[in-house]
Amino acid sequence: MTTLRFGAPASIATEARVPGDKSISHRALLLSACARGATTIEGLNRGEDANATICALRSLGIDVIDDGANVRVTGAEFAADAGPIDCGNSGTTMRLLMGALAGRTSCRLDGDASLRRRPMERVAGPLRMMGAVIKTAAGGVPPVALRTGGRLRPIDYALPVASAQVKSAILIAALRADGITTVRSRRASRDHTERMLSAMGAALRTEGDATSIEAGQLRALERIVIPGDLSAAIFFLVAAALMPGALLEIVGVGVNPTRTAAFDVMRAMGARLDIRAIGEEHGEPLAAIRIRGGAALRGFEIAPDMVPGLIDEIPALCALATLADGESVVREASELRVKESDRIASTVRLLRAFGAEAIETESGIVVRGGLRKQTPATIDTNGDHRIGMSAAALAAASGVPVEIRDSACIATSFPDFADRWSEAFGTPVSIIDDHLY
Ligand code: S3P
Repeated sequence: MTTLRFGAPASIATEARVPGDKSISHRALLLSACARGATTIEGLNRGEDANATICALRSLGIDVIDDGANVRVTGAEFAADAGPIDCGNSGTTMRLLMGALAGRTSCRLDGDASLRRRPMERVAGPLRMMGAVIKTAAGGVPPVALRTGGRLRPIDYALPVASAQVKSAILIAALRADGITTVRSRRASRDHTERMLSAMGAALRTEGDATSIEAGQLRALERIVIPGDLSAAIFFLVAAALMPGALLEIVGVGVNPTRTAAFDVMRAMGARLDIRAIGEEHGEPLAAIRIRGGAALRGFEIAPDMVPGLIDEIPALCALATLADGESVVREASELRVKESDRIASTVRLLRAFGAEAIETESGIVVRGGLRKQTPATIDTNGDHRIGMSAAALAAASGVPVEIRDSACIATSFPDFADRWSEAFGTPVSIIDDHLY
């Protein structure tokens, strides 16, 4: 286990850099593999999760060439039989692959201890309705066994949870189902799959809460540029929001409106956040995001409808809430319990490690603001990258050093986080001798 020690912030840069969006990276890899033609992907997220998708595609016979800068994927039919595929920590890899492989490949999808606790029946169920042969382990968790079968049938399916991963798996499988498949969702979730499928020529239509897609062959986009990851940018924004004199900009961040609810919350808290549109890449809007530090912040209340639009930013927002005035409340967010860790429990543990008052409710978190403690903290990530980076953000925002145990998981989405962090905040980062623990 690696422990990282982040010193107190010393100076703040004017610019920070974030990796390519993780969600869009998975889709670019997988949909390019399903398309006719070759695609060069620029700015791919280089974390372990996206790498798990690359390795999976290679085991399915897809040609993926990585020249160190760009990744080139040539679309082809997936192998009908493949050995076991290790999805590592990546729920997106497993769930999207289930959709892409349903009915056409026999193989077993597995993952690490965290992924083996995550629900897969929510994807297997609708895919079975489409005619796929899929088995999950007891409790509906991985490993997942898929068998080749006949053609898939279209379905009209109402999602029981607002999950982009489940929606995406069904839409991807629907490309091979005879007819029109419809997915309905009471609450909107990220729509990167829909945007990329449309850009690749799929017959896809969204009307109200329903997205319909016809079977068909995708056309490769030739070149995809991945926007910067808003879910990585949030840690820098949280860290800088209270720093007097800070003026930090992050350029080229993806600001798809299904992802930006965390910015609305930060603004409502009083943060001085400025978002300047700078263009678009295949239907994904890009922006330069600038934060001016030193504003006085108040607590937030996140409306349940906003939850899918900021699901991955909740630990970081709760970290900021400890330093705001008044109470902050997250409710109807029980999906957090089935992320890389139980994020309701791990976020509350993180905040308490800094001396903050936080309460775990069945489906949410209540945070008491006004944290005054200025002593160093030690936290455990519980193997969850976003908990590790939220700890660094809270430490920087409150001006204290932090020791982050079990920090290797940060590489899931942001392998050079420590370097980027010390560039942005002048924090010395050191690795602490593991055998002390
Ligand atoms: C993701 C969707 C969300 C999110 C995850 C990435 C995606 O999960 O939490 O980090 O890329 O589709 P759910 O779809 O399960 O809500």
